[in-house]
Amino acid sequence: MLTGDPANNVTEAIFSKLGVRLHTQAAHPLCILKSAIYAYFDARFGEGVFCQLDELHPLVSTEQNFDQVLVPPEHVSRSPNDTYYVDSRTVLRCHTSAHQVEVLASGRRAFLITGDVYRRDAIDATHYPVFHQMEGVRVFGAAELAGQADASAWCAAELKEVLEGLAAHLFGPVPVRWVDAYFPFTQPSFEMEIFFNGQWMEVLGCGVMQQAILEGSAPGAEGGRAWAFGLGLERLAMVLFGIPDIRLFWCGDERFTRQFKPGCFRAGGAASKFSSFSKYPPCNKDVSFWLPAGQAAVAAPGAFSENNLCEVVRSVAGDLVEEVRLMDTFTNPKSGKTSAMYRVVYRSMQRSLTDEEVNALQAEVRARMVAGLGVELR
Ligand code: DAH
Repeated sequence: MLTGDPANNVTEAIFSKLGVRLHTQAAHPLCILKSAIYAYFDARFGEGVFCQLDELHPLVSTEQNFDQVLVPPEHVSRSPNDTYYVDSRTVLRCHTSAHQVEVLASGRRAFLITGDVYRRDAIDATHYPVFHQMEGVRVFGAAELAGQADASAWCAAELKEVLEGLAAHLFGPVPVRWVDAYFPFTQPSFEMEIFFNGQWMEVLGCGVMQQAILEGSAPGAEGGRAWAFGLGLERLAMVLFGIPDIRLFWCGDERFTRQFKPGCFRAGGAASKFSSFSKYPPCNKDVSFWLPAGQAAVAAPGAFSENNLCEVVRSVAGDLVEEVRLMDTFTNPKSGKTSAMYRVVYRSMQRSLTDEEVNALQAEVRARMVAGLGVELR
């Protein structure tokens, strides 16, 4: 545990990820993708025009993570069910947007922030409690906007053009569509989707920065406008390189790492495809239980929630867990109690697991569910 603070919900497993910084390891696919995005911005705007920041520390204040970017007081992302709290005023950043204000305040007017971000979440092939984001911001001064009847619309159009160029740089000539979205920090807000591998895929969120954020943090920005975007590197890297499971980014297995070399990304969707090493068999374990009487679906630490269950399973099994899936739930009309059945899928990326080993893991998971989440096993 990081602290003895009652609000602390950062497990050892999560704490051990701080400082790994996969996005700074030159031969790692996340760093290769980051460099490919840097190359696009350097080519389009001139070398170094977008300042590249990837050393900002993931431990931030709740003020940085939420208040400075106008996340409302009741927003779910503030809940300890979704976010890792070190104490009541310090979190592991859940997005790179947490740094927008400090970087604007330092006087930067165009920048890319890359970093590891942390979220309590479900467990499956595309979700891991640590992942990496890149945040981009560009500010236009009042002088640059002179003569624009609608500065916000002009800014949004420029944003879309830049990001469509980025999509083409990464994926080649793909169809792009824009979907209206909501983010507290932008207005208007959009999501960019591309048509790739036969389906529409969400690539990033973006929009015109809320004027209160810009004018409140960037000296001299009155009357200016800014755009911002945030994208998840894992999801893009999985698609571009054909990586089937998010745990592979962390495995350090030589059969994975030797397939990537700095610069092996070729613009226009010609990234080298990862060739999967053999898959070992999965082992499924089901667990059925009664929720604590009268308990709401989402709860504080120490009660049952799906995220808390996933945290328990990860704490016990680490990267040997592939998925935690709700199979069934019902409420007994007489007692009013709710039952749930979850399937835990164990599988190693590197070897076959033995029955004894999986049984021992599952026994430990069950014990901790009773002790830590207050459920009654059936
Ligand atoms: N922070 C958002 C997230 O984590 C992503 C995002 C959306 C960043 C829109 C932005 C933005 O800067 O303008 O989901």
